[in-house]
Amino acid sequence: MCGIAGYIGDRDSADVLVDALSKLEYRGYDSAGIAVFENGTIKVEKCKGRLANLVEKMDSDGKPTGHCGIGHTRWATHGEPSDINSHPHGNKRVTIVHNGIIENYKQLKDFLISEGYSFVSETDTETVAKLLDYYYNGDPMATISKVLSEIKGSYALGIMFRDFPDRIFAVRKDSPLIVGVGDSENFIASDVPAIIHYTRDYYLLEENEIAVVKKDAVRIFDVHGNEIFKKINTADWDVDAAEKGGFEHFMLKEIHEQPTAVKTTITPRITEHMPDFSAEGFDANKLKSYRNIFIIACGTAMHAGMVGKYVIEKIARIPVTVDIASEFRYRNPLIGEGDLMIVISQSGETADTKAALGLAKEAGADTMAIVNVKGSSIAREADMVVYTHAGPEISVASTKAYMVQVSIMYLLAFELAYANGKFTEETCREYTEKLEEMPDIIDEAILLKEKCQFAASKLVNADSLLYIGRGLDYALSMEGSLKLKEISYIHSESYAAGELKHGTISLITDGMPVIAIATQKDLVEKTISNIKEVKARGAFVILVADREVEVEEGVADIVIRLPEADQMLMPMVAAVPLQLIAYYTAVLKGNDVDKPRNLAKSVTVE
Ligand code: AGP
Ligand code: GLU
Repeated sequence: MCGIAGYIGDRDSADVLVDALSKLEYRGYDSAGIAVFENGTIKVEKCKGRLANLVEKMDSDGKPTGHCGIGHTRWATHGEPSDINSHPHGNKRVTIVHNGIIENYKQLKDFLISEGYSFVSETDTETVAKLLDYYYNGDPMATISKVLSEIKGSYALGIMFRDFPDRIFAVRKDSPLIVGVGDSENFIASDVPAIIHYTRDYYLLEENEIAVVKKDAVRIFDVHGNEIFKKINTADWDVDAAEKGGFEHFMLKEIHEQPTAVKTTITPRITEHMPDFSAEGFDANKLKSYRNIFIIACGTAMHAGMVGKYVIEKIARIPVTVDIASEFRYRNPLIGEGDLMIVISQSGETADTKAALGLAKEAGADTMAIVNVKGSSIAREADMVVYTHAGPEISVASTKAYMVQVSIMYLLAFELAYANGKFTEETCREYTEKLEEMPDIIDEAILLKEKCQFAASKLVNADSLLYIGRGLDYALSMEGSLKLKEISYIHSESYAAGELKHGTISLITDGMPVIAIATQKDLVEKTISNIKEVKARGAFVILVADREVEVEEGVADIVIRLPEADQMLMPMVAAVPLQLIAYYTAVLKGNDVDKPRNLAKSVTVE
């Protein structure tokens, strides 16, 4: 959830921290703060709201000046967003920033109060700061190890001790943290985009490894004080990838990046127009050996899994269960040896998805992760990893990550269908070639911008709307609906078009918008009948349809015609106008598109 950053070097640390935090704000934006060593003391500046508020505050108060500091952008879990609950927390002796949740903070807090400590904030984080102070004996490493043995939960921590102004300490468990290695300057950060302007080299910290970060050296230890020598990773992301590059919002930029993202993702997994996952360490025979396939994820990633289920079951005839990770993990699922669990995650850090993965491993299932962020926890824990190559996705509302996840779902489905003898080599090649054509078709779909903007203008004043479709169109409508509510704050539901008459149709009132998707030839007539049913009850219908679907006069108020593509691959085309409709509706409402209220991009807490 939160983003943490740290800097030590010759630059002005406040400036570097603000810059790094600006790349991490997608992780949370309830408050921002920094702590900097200034003439041997730790000076803290923090306040509620966006990073811009902090910058403004520092412009009037004066920013702390120094060359070593830590920073934080918060998504509140314990205690409302407020100045006092903002990070950093601590006292003059030890100051910290934290991403995660300390589950046993209440007991620790009671203990510390009984020892004479008083607390100013409602956060769990302050307990860690005070516990560090309590155990501090002049030896930071021993103090940190002691505290780690007492706290339970998830954490990435950046720590400064007043007595050691030449270093930052960093440690993590179940929350991400990297240590960036520069030339006479070093960094800590929750994610690569925060440091990529300064260096591409970084260490990935493993669970409970403690990094001691100085200007000229980074050393990493385990909790017993043994030094660990790790390999340096190099970020291959484009430096500009985390910038808006002329677009008004990251979301719009990321929608435009979809053709390239798909191309970069599928190309390495195709050899002579056939799916090829040999570089990922598995092949068709391995895939077909599984009894059941489970696809587990959250939010948009789960919707990509829904498309996967429809396609795998349709063409490979293998049963696929899709579930929301937070439900799956608590329902004692029937998974075990001989099963495959595929988890899908952009960030690779989503707490529920990660826990579900752990559960499947314990049960003896094989696990595969489809992940965008290299070296993320989920990627590291799964038996097999297929990286999507979308580049950094900054907008909280996911677009390009969904598109590449879906593209991998197709490739896996083709591979499975071929392995199962349901596809001949020729059919498999034919479909793979069609997938290879998708980047150009997605490009064409982006040209529907103006039409989508017009459709959005009809939604801005709606209180509620429905998305309907059948089959793959239903799977896609779930994503369309999520995207709209996430950023426009308009209530919407996705419904299987045939299910409306079993209750939901009573919601339709005069002028209520209904977005219908009709791309599946064998189901189109039935969907059109359902559209007529809502139209007859006064709905305002926006129809997203395949080029060939015949639409009689009066059936829909706005028709958005999609560029031509194979109907099985249509979700990749139809997703684009749905993303654009959500985007323009949010823009017209004046919302903060990239940072919708109450949300954060990586949900690293339950
Ligand atoms: C998408 O627009 C959402 N912000 C959200 O549903 C997201 O897809 C979900 O939280 C899963 O995240 P992950 O892909 O990083 O695991
Ligand atoms: N639990 C801490 C807080 O509420 C950190 C939150 C987080 O990482 O999401 O301030």
